[in-house]
Amino acid sequence: MVTSKNLLGIKELTTEEIYHVLETASGFKDVLQRDIKKVPPLRGKTVVNLFFEPSTRTRISFELAAKRLSADVINFSTITSSVIKGETLKDTALTIKALGADFVVIRHSSAGVPHFLSRILNISVINAGDGANEHPTQALLDLFTILSHKKKIKGLTVAIIGDITHSRVARSNIYALTKLGAHVRLICPPTLRPAEVRHLGIEVFNTIEEGLKKADVIMTLRLQLERQSKGYFPSLEEYFYLYGLTTARLQLARDNAIVMHPGPMNRGVEIESEVADGPQSVILEQVTNGLAVRMAVLYLLAGVKK
Ligand code: CP
Repeated sequence: MVTSKNLLGIKELTTEEIYHVLETASGFKDVLQRDIKKVPPLRGKTVVNLFFEPSTRTRISFELAAKRLSADVINFSTITSSVIKGETLKDTALTIKALGADFVVIRHSSAGVPHFLSRILNISVINAGDGANEHPTQALLDLFTILSHKKKIKGLTVAIIGDITHSRVARSNIYALTKLGAHVRLICPPTLRPAEVRHLGIEVFNTIEEGLKKADVIMTLRLQLERQSKGYFPSLEEYFYLYGLTTARLQLARDNAIVMHPGPMNRGVEIESEVADGPQSVILEQVTNGLAVRMAVLYLLAGVKK
């Protein structure tokens, strides 16, 4: 049972709440197989996508999820809004609420912005990625995808490779996977490993060869190229040489290991194209599952007493 009207992070969710979202998403996945994919639960409700950072998957997925549930959807873009004229985040959010929004889906470069909005608005706030903090719906769709292949999470070995320090996807997945009993391994350069990992009950590997051994799930992360100039590693070529997921390295994992990536991918940097497009890749399934998971989140939050 989901008890909060907001989804701010995986950290705040119980194991039962996570499974409740995933079971609800499974029902919506069935709905999405039908000829008529639209259902009425959010008729008369308005969802505003408030994105202060670029997005392809998350924004489109939330828009489509809301439309499939019969809600009205407004997409807010910073470039065409009064933010350009100096309007504050708080005034923008209060304006959206005054226009009658029922949900705000927020992506922002600063950690904590969804939590701030949840304190000043009494409508549902959904975190679509806040700085390097959390990206809860990405972790939920990742769990859904893993479950659809492995039928369980408990006891699985999940190797997460890449820029852990700056990754909200990694953070949400670490919280989710450890709550559900997976063995989580991080594979990253020491410069991209946050100090907090010592307290999260996970294993850390500096070499990809060690970390991939007998993994059930391999999760590659986007290397944040915008940070490349800051000297976290010498070059993209060296990063790929040391941490890129190649066909040869994939052999070290279990034969039936699945390969995931939240997108957007940097081919030839985090992952070889042959692996990204290969038979073990579930990257496009993650995108497809995101729609059912986001429908479940909107549906469940709509049912919580405001
Ligand atoms: N995975 C993810 O958040 O992708 P977008 O940035 O395209 O939304």
